Amino acid sequence: MSSTNTIKPAEGRLGILTPGMGAVATTFIAGVIAVNKGLGKPIGSLTQMGNIRVGKRTREEMRNPKIKDFVPLQPLNQVVFGGWDIYEDNVFDAAMKAEVLDKNLLLQLRPELEQIKPMKAVFDKAWVKNLDGKHVKQGRNKMDLAHQLIQDIEDFKKKNNCTRLVMVWCGSTEVFTEEHDVHQTIEAFEKGLEENNPYISPSMIYAYASIKCRVPFANGAPNLSCDIPALAELARQNETAIAGKDFKTGQTLMKTIVAPGLAARALGIKGWFSTNILGNRDGEVLDDPSSFKTKEVSKLSVLKDILAPDQQPDLYSNLYHKVNINYYPPRGDNKESWDNIDIFGWLGYEMQIKINFLCRDSILAAPIVLDLALFLDLAQRSNMSGVQEWLSFYFKSPQTAPGLNPLHDIFKQLMKLENTLRHLKGEDLITHLGLDYYEEFIAQ
Ligand SMILES: NC(=O)c1ccc[n+]([C@@H]2O[C@H](COP(=O)([O-])OP(=O)(O)OC[C@H]3O[C@@H](n4cnc5c(N)ncnc54)[C@H](O)[C@@H]3O)[C@@H](O)[C@H]2O)c1
Repeated sequence: MSSTNTIKPAEGRLGILTPGMGAVATTFIAGVIAVNKGLGKPIGSLTQMGNIRVGKRTREEMRNPKIKDFVPLQPLNQVVFGGWDIYEDNVFDAAMKAEVLDKNLLLQLRPELEQIKPMKAVFDKAWVKNLDGKHVKQGRNKMDLAHQLIQDIEDFKKKNNCTRLVMVWCGSTEVFTEEHDVHQTIEAFEKGLEENNPYISPSMIYAYASIKCRVPFANGAPNLSCDIPALAELARQNETAIAGKDFKTGQTLMKTIVAPGLAARALGIKGWFSTNILGNRDGEVLDDPSSFKTKEVSKLSVLKDILAPDQQPDLYSNLYHKVNINYYPPRGDNKESWDNIDIFGWLGYEMQIKINFLCRDSILAAPIVLDLALFLDLAQRSNMSGVQEWLSFYFKSPQTAPGLNPLHDIFKQLMKLENTLRHLKGEDLITHLGLDYYEEFIAQ
C-alpha cells in the first residue's frame, strides 16, 4: 500500500456508473443530488458524516477529523451519474416507481433526474428469471457484449467530461452458481466470452468490461460477479480496485452488530431464526428460489465467522441458523425483519432476544453505494489494486484475497477500514491495545 505522497488528487469529475437503475441506484442518485441542493443530509454515509481518530489519545493531541477532510475524497458536487437497465425509464420515472423517496422531493429534483437515462443492458433471463425487459443489447457473443459495454464506458467518460469513473453493480440478484473451470483463469474466461459459455453471467461481463477499462468495480449483490479468480487476477494485472459482495443492510447489519457482542461476553447461542417480508422488485426477484439461494448463502455465512463454533464448541456448535425472505408486495421497499435468538448463559440457563427491525432497504443501501464509489476511487488514486478487503465493512459476503477467510464482525471491519485510511496518510495505526494510555500513565 502507498503512503500519503502517492495519493493522486481528486481532480475533475468522477462518473459513477451503476448496472441496474432500480430502487437502490435511484435512491442513491437522487439522494446525492438532494444533498448537493441542500435538501437533505447524507445520513448513514461514513465518507460524509464519519470522523476518524488519529494520533495519541492524550487530551493535547486528540484529533478527530471528518473522514472527508482526512483523506482526499471526491467532492459530491463533482460527481455525475450513469448506468444501464433492462427498462428504459429515466431515473425520475424509475425512482417514482420504486416509491422509496417522497414524491415531493423527487419533483424538486425532476430536471436533473430526467436527464439520466439508462443505457441498454447486457441481460439474460436465464440469470434473473422473474424479470423481462426489452432495453437490452444484442451481440454476436458475450465478448461482443463486453466490447459494447467498454464502448459505453468510454463514450460516457468523454460525453460527461470525467477524469475518472467507478462502477457499482446495483442490478438484480442473479441465480446461484458456483465457480467453474471457465472462472479460474483470464484465458479460460476470455475464451468463455468468445464461446458464450453458459456459466458467464451478465454481472461478470460488466465486471470484465469495467476492469478492462481500469474502472474500479464493486458488487452490491450476492452473485459471484467479480468474485472469481479470473477477474481478481485481471484486476491485479490491470491495477484496478475491486470489492464485493452484497451490501450489508437491514437484518445482516443487525446480526453483525449483535453477534460480536454476545460472543464477546461468551454467551451461548442455540438458534437464530431470521425472517423478512419485502415487497419491492428485489423481493420479487428473490421470490425465485434460484435467486434466493444466492442470497441465502450470503446471509448464512456471517455467523460462522463471528462465533467460530470450532473454537467455542460449548457455546455455538449446535447453533441452528435459518433465514427466510418472503415476497409481500404491500410493504414495497419498507422491509420488516424479525429475529428470534435463543441464547443461554451461566450453567446453560436459557434466554431469548427478539429483534423487530422496520427498516427501509434502499435508504440503508444508498449511502453504501456512495461510500464504495468514493473509497474505490480513493484506492485507485492510491495505486491499491485487486480486492479491497478493507471495504468488507460494507458487505454481507466480503470478497477476500485467495486463501483468506472473510471478516464479518462489523467492529473489526471498521478497525481495518480506519487503519487503512491512517496508513494511507502515514499516521500510526490504532490497535486499541491501550499503549497510548499506558505511556500517558507512566509519564505522570
Ligand atoms: N436494498 C438493499 O438493502 C440491498 C442490500 C443488499 C443487496 N442488495 C442488492 O442490490 C441489488 C439492487 O437492489 P434494488 O432494491 O435496487 O433492486 P431493484 O429490483 O429495484 O433494481 C435492480 C435493477 O436491476 C435491473 N437489472 C437486472 N439485471 C440487469 C442487468 N443485467 N443489467 C442492467 N440492469 C439489470 C432491473 O431491471 C432493476 O431495475 C439487488 O441485487 C439486491 O439484492 C440490496
